Amino acid sequence: MKVPRLIRAALERAGVEEQEKVSSGVDVVGDIAIVRLDGFSAGEKKRIAGALLEEMSTVRVVMEQEGGIGGEYRLRKLRHLAGARRTLTVHRENGCAFRVDVARCYFSPRLSTERLRVARSVKPKERVLNMFAGVGPFSIAIAKLAGAKVTSCEVNAYAAKLHEENDALNRVEDRVTVVRGDAADLPKSTKARYDRVLMPHPSEADRFLPTALSLAKKGGTVHYYRHLLGEDESEAAEALKDELSILLPRGSKYTVRRVRDVGPRWIEMAAEIRVSA
Ligand SMILES: C[S@@+](CC[C@H](N)C(=O)[O-])C[C@H]1O[C@@H](n2cnc3c(N)ncnc32)[C@H](O)[C@@H]1O
Repeated sequence: MKVPRLIRAALERAGVEEQEKVSSGVDVVGDIAIVRLDGFSAGEKKRIAGALLEEMSTVRVVMEQEGGIGGEYRLRKLRHLAGARRTLTVHRENGCAFRVDVARCYFSPRLSTERLRVARSVKPKERVLNMFAGVGPFSIAIAKLAGAKVTSCEVNAYAAKLHEENDALNRVEDRVTVVRGDAADLPKSTKARYDRVLMPHPSEADRFLPTALSLAKKGGTVHYYRHLLGEDESEAAEALKDELSILLPRGSKYTVRRVRDVGPRWIEMAAEIRVSA
């Protein structure tokens, strides 16, 4: 892979030459930098992390991510490398601020453009459901930028607590409701139907699509996200259409698009599904 500029600078500063071992860039969440340094020795990792701290003036903590994200809460496995020993920070994007604990909650700064795109497409009168809300980055951007009412669901109780704190931090608590629990149980607890249902949970969204469709109004939109294998966007789009041809009623209308690359030959794709009768 092409070595990102920041990592290249840190490797040079740390006197480490083996750039080919670098497998990804740096995720900066608030003042915490998260890096993947598989293949480097413990000493090299510490030197690179120290160099990153010097290279990035806003960073106070450097953590190493070991492996991908995993488990029901979609968490990173993190190890402290340099700087302060904490995992809680405040991340700012799209005019919003989010308290995030990067070890105990899911958060990816790489989705900020997608969140802005969705928030800009929402109209003020819409009622929106976010089935997999995390600490609130989609929901709060929608409430703040579009002024719409949002119901968020989140199974990780700590992420849901931070979401509520973030609602207050962004002064949208009058427009956002957080439901702590399993999105599969939502139909049991509400009769509400939504103009827009967000499913930002690419590894499991297929399992929850019938629930999402049942909670959307007729004529409403379901935002369905998946990570799919493909050499390029058109191959990933075909894989998504194949999946939806099985999951959706015949004749359903939807559009598909690329969101971002998530790994070698893996692409995050979105489908916007128009809900019919
Ligand atoms: C990929 S993360 C997305 C979080 C958030 N939308 C964001 O962009 O930061 C998926 C989230 O869904 C939550 N989750 C997983 N299974 C769930 C379920 N059955 N019901 C509600 N939330 C769930 C996880 O804890 C995690 O916070």
